[in-house]
Amino acid sequence: MTRAEAKDRSDVIVVGAGLIGLSVAWKLALDGASVTLLEREKPGAGATGVAAGMLAPIGELDFGEPELLELNLRSRRLYPDFVAGVEAETGMDTGYRHTGALHVALDRDEAGELRRIMELQQSHGLDSKWLGPMAARDLEPGVSPSLAGAVLVEDDAVVDPRALVEALRSGLEARGTRIVPAEVSGLLRDSSGKVTGVLTGDGEFTARVVVAAPGAEAGVAEWLPEEVRPPVRPVKGQVVELRGDTDAPACERILGSERVYIAPRPDGRLILGATVEEMGFDRRVTGGGVHELLREAYRLLPDVAEMEFIGAIAGLRPGTPDNVPVIGPAGIEGLILATGHYRNGILLAPVTAEAVVDFVQGRQPEGLTAASPARFENQAVGGGER
Ligand code: GLY
Repeated sequence: MTRAEAKDRSDVIVVGAGLIGLSVAWKLALDGASVTLLEREKPGAGATGVAAGMLAPIGELDFGEPELLELNLRSRRLYPDFVAGVEAETGMDTGYRHTGALHVALDRDEAGELRRIMELQQSHGLDSKWLGPMAARDLEPGVSPSLAGAVLVEDDAVVDPRALVEALRSGLEARGTRIVPAEVSGLLRDSSGKVTGVLTGDGEFTARVVVAAPGAEAGVAEWLPEEVRPPVRPVKGQVVELRGDTDAPACERILGSERVYIAPRPDGRLILGATVEEMGFDRRVTGGGVHELLREAYRLLPDVAEMEFIGAIAGLRPGTPDNVPVIGPAGIEGLILATGHYRNGILLAPVTAEAVVDFVQGRQPEGLTAASPARFENQAVGGGER
C-alpha cells in the first residue's frame, strides 16, 4: 500500500496546532483519547507565536461583552492548574507569572476614560483599584513621571505563548500523541454524512471526531464545507520585542495605556503590543505599526529607549462578529469547531480544551451557549482572499 492510500486511525483528529489545537490535544490525551494533530506549518506559527500572552480578563474588559467576560474569567481561573500540569509533566517553564497589571492614564482625558473602565470592572464585582501617580510609581518606578493616575488589577497574569507551545509539544510527544506536518484538503464522510476523518496530501486520517482549530483561516478554510464555516475574519496585530536586563527588569507587571500594552517576560524581554488592523490576510510588519508601538511604549515606560530591539512580527487574530469564540458541534455529525478566539486565544485555551473534551464525549459543557457555532447559522463569511 502506498503512503497516499494508507489509513491512519485515532479517536480524534485535531486540525491546527496553534495554542488552541495543542491544548485541545493535550486535554484529550490526558483524558485517555488517542489523538492525531495535523499542522501545515510549525506548531504555534500563527497568532500564537505573535501573542504577548496576557491573561487579563479584567484589564482587557470592554463594554457590552458580558458573555465573553464570563468565559475569560473561567479560563483565567483554570490557568494555574493548566500550566502547572504541563510544567510538572515536562519540567519546562511556560513563563506563567501572576504579575498583576497596572493600567496607566498619561493625561487627564485618559484618566477620565480609565476611571470609566475601572467602574465597569467594579460593576461586575471585579477587583481593581485606583492609584494616584505616586502610589503607581512606587509599584512601577519606570512608568512615566507625568502620569495622571493608574488602575491596579492584581488578578491579571502573563504566560509566554511560545514557551507554552514548546512545553505542550514535548508533553504530547511523551504521551505518544503525534503532530503530523500535513495540509488538510477535505473531510471524509460516510453515507449518512457523518465525518469520519480528513484527506491530506499525505493520505487519509480517520477518526471518530474531527476538531477544527484553524484560527484566522476558519472563514476561508476550503476543507470545511461552506455551510459550516464560521464568519471568522483575520484581524492583524503587530508586536515589537525588546531585550532588557534580566536582573533589573524594566517593569514587574503588565503595563497598559490607552494605546499600547507591555508584557514582561521572566528573562527581561518586553513584548509591546499590539496594533489592531482590518487588513485581510496581510501579515507584513510596517514602519507605521512599529513606530506607533515604540512611540506609545516610550510615553508609558521611557526606559524602553535603552533596550535592545529584537524584532517585530505580525499575526492574524481570528475575529468574530460578536468577539465571542466559536466552540462546539459544527452542525455536521463528528465535526467540532474551536476557533474565533479573537484577542483572547491564549487566555481561552484551557476553557476551550475542557469544553472540547466534553463535546467529544457527547456532554454539553455548561456556560458555552454564547460560543455555539449555531448562532451564526445562515450568516455570510467575510475575511477576504488568502
Ligand atoms: N489580547 C491582546 C491582543 O489581542 O492584542
